[in-house]
Amino acid sequence: MIAELSNPSVLMKDPVRVQEILQSMKKAGSNTLQVISDFDMTLTRFAYNGKRCPTCHNILDNSKLISSDCKDMLKELLDTYYPIEIDCSRSVEEKLPLMVEWWTKAHDLLVEQKIRKEMLSTAVQESEAMLREGYEFFFNHLHEHSIPLLIFSAGIGDILEEVIRQAGVFHSNVNVFSNYMDFDDSGVLKAFKGELIHIYNKREGAMLNTGHFQELRTRPNVLLMGDSLGDLNMADGVQDMENILKIGYLNDKVEERKQSYLNLYDVVLINDETLEVPNALLLYLT
Ligand code: TMP
Ligand code: MG
Repeated sequence: MIAELSNPSVLMKDPVRVQEILQSMKKAGSNTLQVISDFDMTLTRFAYNGKRCPTCHNILDNSKLISSDCKDMLKELLDTYYPIEIDCSRSVEEKLPLMVEWWTKAHDLLVEQKIRKEMLSTAVQESEAMLREGYEFFFNHLHEHSIPLLIFSAGIGDILEEVIRQAGVFHSNVNVFSNYMDFDDSGVLKAFKGELIHIYNKREGAMLNTGHFQELRTRPNVLLMGDSLGDLNMADGVQDMENILKIGYLNDKVEERKQSYLNLYDVVLINDETLEVPNALLLYLT
């Protein structure tokens, strides 16, 4: 039905079910569709030319806005907690408090750095952040068809907005749930706003935003895109859901995690740095 689903990067536990969901969504029409996507390592590339690409946090960590002592401490946190994030031998219950610890420590360190709001755009410009190949079509097509895109990220809202703004694709159909920086009157970072969003509380994050989902109640069909198992909860706030198709990017520790991704995501994309498959699905659905 959709040629791209035969790409070598695509794995599906139940291809027939995927076809059924897509057919049902197509029949309902694109005016019933909404897209909910994670940001880091889902809309952005995991690696380019063999080198890891930065997350929102890493964009700051690697920038001139952070002292070298602080860089060392953030690197130590990354080396400690990232292996826990992707460790499939530990349960979510076991990992959750450790993820809260990581985010809290990282945000405390960032706040100590007296980061100036007006410097963020340069930090993004000078970074190696890259949206996945095919991002222009993805963002522009959703905009042209008035399909709402919710970017639901445990990264940093100010940074991810800047990444998509600089790429020229921050259109009016895009909404963002993320951790936003709070600046004092002189434009210096003093805290992060609201409830912390980390990798395993996207369900709670969704529940705090019932107004958004209430507005989109005429769109009960969801295309969900993520790279972590925590991303599977991003659509928990959707009202009267009819169909959901979950696309999961499996970027790292592929062999160890393949089975759990296949069990939980409808379409699994293995080491795929492009948006080719989501774009093909969107083209089919619109
Ligand atoms: P996401 O929800 O947009 O994918 O963002 C979460 C990612 O951010 C997750 O993969 C871990 C990463 N991260 C860092 O790279 N550095 C940090 O200091 C923290 C707290 C998270
Ligand atoms: Mg991610």
